Formats: sequence, C-alpha cells, structure tokens
Amino acid sequence: MSSNDRVIIFDTTLRDGEQSPGASMTGEEKLRIARALERLKVDVIEAGFAIASPGDFAGVKLVADNIKDSTVCSLARAVDADIERAAEALAYANSGRIHTFIATSPIHMQYKLRMQPEQVIEQAVRAVKKARSLCADVEFSCEDAGRSEIDFLCRIIEAAIDAGARTINIPDTVGYAIPHQYADTIRQLLERIPNADKAVFSVHCHNDLGLAVANSLAAVVAGARQVECTINGLGERAGNAALEEIVMAIKTRQDLLGVHTRIETEHILAASRLVSGITGFPVQPNKAIVGANAFAHESGIHQDGVLKHRETYEIMSAQSVGWHANKMVMGKHSGRAAFRSRLEELGIVLEGEELNAAFARFKELADKKHEIFDEDLQALVSDTLAEEAPEHYKLVSLEVASKTGTTPEARLVLSIDGAQRDAAAQGSGPVDATFKAIEAIAASDATLQLYSVNAITQGTDSQGEVTVRLEKGGRIVNGNGADTDIVVASAKAYLNALNLMQVGAKAHPQVEGV
Ligand code: KIV
Ligand code: ZN
Repeated sequence: MSSNDRVIIFDTTLRDGEQSPGASMTGEEKLRIARALERLKVDVIEAGFAIASPGDFAGVKLVADNIKDSTVCSLARAVDADIERAAEALAYANSGRIHTFIATSPIHMQYKLRMQPEQVIEQAVRAVKKARSLCADVEFSCEDAGRSEIDFLCRIIEAAIDAGARTINIPDTVGYAIPHQYADTIRQLLERIPNADKAVFSVHCHNDLGLAVANSLAAVVAGARQVECTINGLGERAGNAALEEIVMAIKTRQDLLGVHTRIETEHILAASRLVSGITGFPVQPNKAIVGANAFAHESGIHQDGVLKHRETYEIMSAQSVGWHANKMVMGKHSGRAAFRSRLEELGIVLEGEELNAAFARFKELADKKHEIFDEDLQALVSDTLAEEAPEHYKLVSLEVASKTGTTPEARLVLSIDGAQRDAAAQGSGPVDATFKAIEAIAASDATLQLYSVNAITQGTDSQGEVTVRLEKGGRIVNGNGADTDIVVASAKAYLNALNLMQVGAKAHPQVEGV
C-alpha cells in the first residue's frame, strides 16, 4: 500500500467527546485516556480547547508534555487569543498541531458570526497565518461545512491552503449529510481546488441522523485521508463517528475500501472501557465492536456455525479488538509488580503514592472478590484517583437500614474540606435515603437527571459502577463511583458529581462564536 492509502486517525474524544453534557474530564483523566490512545497508535489526539478554561489549558498541556508518539492538537477559534493560548499549551509537545476553525455556512455566518463571507475568508487566512507563525502543523476547519455552499468552500479552502494550512477539515457539524452527497462534496473539493494536493482532506461527522460512520467512510472512498472520531462515538448531542467502527470497517473491508490505518486494534476494548469508566457514559450492550453482546451468539444455529467454523457468523475476531483480555487476571495473591504491569497493559501508568493507594485498594477488593478482571482494575483506578484528588466532599462512613415493611434509612458522615458533619434521612429505598442524607448536608440545589448502576463484571460479587448526573443552572456533571456495595458506590458517585460542580465552568467553542 502506498502512503496515499493510509487514513490518518484523529481522535477528538478529549475535545469534542468532552463536549457531551456531563462528560468533562480532569487533566489527569485526559492524560490516562491519551496514553490509551497513544498505545492504540492514534495519529493525532485533540486534547482540548486550550482557551476554554484554565483547567482545559492545563489538560492540553499535560497531554502535550507527556505524549510522544501521537501528535497532540488544541482547538482554537480563528482569533489571535485562542491561537496564542493553543500554542502556549503545546509548547513542549514532541509534535503539536493547532486546529483553527470558523463557520462557513450561510446560516452560521449570518446569525452566529454576523459577518459577510469576504470577512470570513479574511479572518480565516489571518488565523491560519498566525497559527503557522507559531506551529508548523496547522489544521483549518470550515465549521458547518455540511450546510455550506460548495463555491464558497472552494474559495476559503484555497485561501487557507495558500496561507499554510496542511490539513483541511470538512465537518458535518450538525449531522445533516447523507453518505453519497457528502462523498460528492469531498470529491468536488478535491477536483476543483487548484492547490488541493498540498493538504490532507479530513472529515468530522456528527451522528444526529445515525450516519456519522457511513458519511466518514463514504468520504474516505471519495479521497479524504483523515477521519476525526471519538472512542465509543462520544460527542456533542448524538455524538461523533466512533473510532472503533471506522477503524474496524477499514480493516475488515480492505478489499473494498483499499486503505489502512496505523491503529493497533487489539487495544480498542481497553480504550473503550477506560473512556466509559471515566466519563460515566456506559456502552450499550449491542454497540458494534465494544458492546458486551458484539461477539455473543445467542441463537443455537449461530453458535453451532461459529463452533464449526468461526467465519460462518463472525466477520472479525473478538480477539482482534481486545476481547481476549476479558479474563481473570489477578487474585489476592498477585503482587505489586504484577498489578503494576497489568495496569500498564491496560494503558494505565501509575507511580509513587498513586500506585500505593491503588494497590492497597486492590488488596481490599481481592479480599471481597475472588476473581479480579480488567474491568475491576479500571474501575478501581478511577475510584482511587478520584479519592486521592483534593475534594470538597468526601464520604467518611455510611450505614443503611433496609428491611421489608419499614422505611429505609441512611446515616452518614461526610468530610467537608476536612470538617466532619453527619446526617440521617429516610427514603423510598436505601439509595434514595443516602442521597437525601447527603443533600441534608450539602443543600446543593442540583437536580438529579440520571442514576444508573452497572455491574462491572459477572456474578453477585461484582463491583457496581454507578453514574449520577446532576444539573444546576444549566450546567450538567456526571459523577462516578464503584464499590462491591452499590449503596456505597452510589454515595461516592453523588459526592463525585457534587465535587465536579465546584470546578469552574468553561467556554464552549461552538457556542461562543468569533
Ligand atoms: O463539529 C464541528 O464542526 C467541530 C469543529 C470545531 C471541528 O467540532
Ligand atoms: Zn464536532
């Protein structure tokens, strides 16, 4: 295969994925995901929108300072302040990229930007030149390209390439495109723009009509050579194109698509679980590639066929995306070195105090649970790191009484910035009582939008992984907690959400338009 047959995988889980309501991540969580992406051999990791908040800047910088094998990218609107902040965050990257964008559709130019098309071209050119003065690798995106006029796209893209952009992204920002039409747009742009050969054409599809992956693949057939995607399809509204689906479609149907990626697909499942654990967005069981049922054959005819010859009903092997890792990996006699090395295989690097704390939690868990699986380790690390982080609210103790015929009651002690407070409350169940007792102390005024419990592994000794989504004043956060006792896991998740509420809000790149 020639280099022109390679599709660059640009992962935006840490930026567009993080824009899903409630999916915000700390810098340290971003770095853990970035390490898993680097292990997957993702070409470009979009680590955030550096100007959005001090936390976002720190997250991009942390990823840029530590990731060596993937290019690290920051988003920036087409204004000097954004571009300078992105460059600052990327200053120590081994390989950095500034991704600047401006909207190009009539509706965005008229109502959001309130600018004439000529002014938009001028601003795009200025932004690309500014970015090029600070970074050799510059990507330019025409926001809402999916609803932009093709003649205008040709003009602005030609000007952006002349100004120094080396990647041109054609986002279907609102998920409006249909595969053959989107492919036709890419084909026309490649044919009509005189300097198109000086840039890589990229696609970035949202999933509002459930077509993000189909649109991306159609664009690849038409000549696009970068696909922007996210793990588990995380992203704004209905999400972005799912990395695992794009990559496995390209690998499985190489006969038809004739392209390849650099992705080491056997690490896909671990990355999926990490993202789901950190963001609290569970993966639906029937999700392609990474859903629990993706390789489960229920019908007798299918089972019989697979046993006789796997390819009768399976188009790819479960092992090729990492399902073989779903085995008992550790037990109470496993030592610290084995623990550390298994974490490293899962893309989790812990040192010093963090490693000590996680190992102590592992030993506690091993006393309660006979077999410890990869999923347990991932949840345990998330939970340990959340507890190690400086937090406003911490759970000190919890006691619940629940008996048929009586009203469940919870008594708990919280530490609030080091000072202990206790409360008791009754509720319709032990979890409800626990949340009411927490609120008796916190009085947060937040509304509970979602409560979900997921058994991390099989068996009644499984850890329960709880997600609590709280909303206050339009801000949404997802808190997570894991424990073999689901009431304790629920209390941890609720407190985690309250702690996240304390962290400053950030700007949204597409809402705060230039
Ligand atoms: O969807 C979109 O248009 C984006 C751009 C900022 C690339 O996320
Ligand atoms: Zn997007």
